Amino acid sequence: MNDKFFIINEAQLDLKKKYKVHNNEIGFFFEGNNLKAFSSYCPHFGGPLECVDNKEFHCHWHGYKFSNKGECTSHKIKLNVVFFKVTIEEGRIYVWENT
Ligand code: FES
Repeated sequence: MNDKFFIINEAQLDLKKKYKVHNNEIGFFFEGNNLKAFSSYCPHFGGPLECVDNKEFHCHWHGYKFSNKGECTSHKIKLNVVFFKVTIEEGRIYVWENT
């Protein structure tokens, strides 16, 4: 089942900020003109994942890096950043979570 959560009004979105949804913390970045949402919990051991220049993700706990498609680029390991579907409805940003 998919659940949709209101995050914030589009005009107030802060890309440096993380937003709590249930037991997740969600960050945003742009891929071209498309707003994307990712879990800020590193898929390695849950460290804080930061999006750098909308191009890649870094985790400072153990230095892992991930592409903006989510694949690990720093280590030969199959770990992927978790992404969420985003919709913008009448200026309101929603994230969809699988439950
Ligand atoms: S928890 Fe992120 S690199 Fe280990």
